[in-house]
Amino acid sequence: MRLVTLTSKRLDQAIELVRKSFPKDNAAPLHLVESVEKITEYRDKYWVAIDKNRVVGICGIWQPRRSKIAWISWFAVTPKYRKLGVGGRLIKKLQAQARSWKINTLRVWTTDEYKIATDWYQRMGFDIIHRDGENMVLNKTTKGKIPPINMTDMY
Ligand SMILES: CC(C)(COP(=O)(O)OP(=O)(O)OC[C@H]1O[C@@H](n2cnc3c(N)ncnc32)[C@H](O)[C@@H]1OP(=O)(O)O)[C@@H](O)C(=O)NCCC(=O)NCCS
Repeated sequence: MRLVTLTSKRLDQAIELVRKSFPKDNAAPLHLVESVEKITEYRDKYWVAIDKNRVVGICGIWQPRRSKIAWISWFAVTPKYRKLGVGGRLIKKLQAQARSWKINTLRVWTTDEYKIATDWYQRMGFDIIHRDGENMVLNKTTKGKIPPINMTDMY
C-alpha cells in the first residue's frame, strides 16, 4: 500500500470512494475536482492510498485564507481495508502537511452518524471542542493554546 498525492489519474476512483463513503454529501466530488484542477481560493491537498492499483483510502487538508488552523476533509478508507493502519498512515500525512504549512491546529467537522470516526479521531489525539446538534468539531493543537472557534474559519 502506498500513499500518493491525488492527481487527475486517480480522480475517478477517488470520487467513487467519497461518493460511497459520504452518500448524502454532494460537495465531496466537487472539492476533489476543484483541488486537482487547482481552482480553489484556499490552500488544499489530497492524498490517496493505493493497493493493487486501486484507491483504498483518501484524505485531504485545507486552510482557510489567513487562518492559523487547517481542516481535514473527506477522510475515508474503503471498508475492506479498515483497521489495517491505512487511516493512521493518512492522518500522519495530514499532520506532516500541517507542520510544513506551520500550522499547529488541525480540525475536523463530523457528525454522530460517523460514530466510528469520532472515536477514532479521539484515539488519534483529537478532542471535541464544539457541538451543534449532531454536528461537532474535533481539534488537535500540537503547540500553544487552542485557537477560539471562529465562524469565518469554519466553512
Ligand atoms: C475512520 C476511518 C478513516 C479509520 O480508518 P482505518 O484505516 O480503519 O484506521 P486504522 O486502521 O489506521 O486505525 C488506527 C487505530 O484505530 C483503531 N480502530 C480502527 N477502527 C476502529 C473502530 N471502528 N473502533 C475502534 N478502534 C478502531 C485501530 O485498531 C488502530 O488502533 P491501534 O493503532 O491501537 O491498533 C475508517 O473507519 C473510515 O473510513 N470510516 C468511514 C468514513 C468516515 O467515517 N470518515 C470520517 C468522517 S469525518
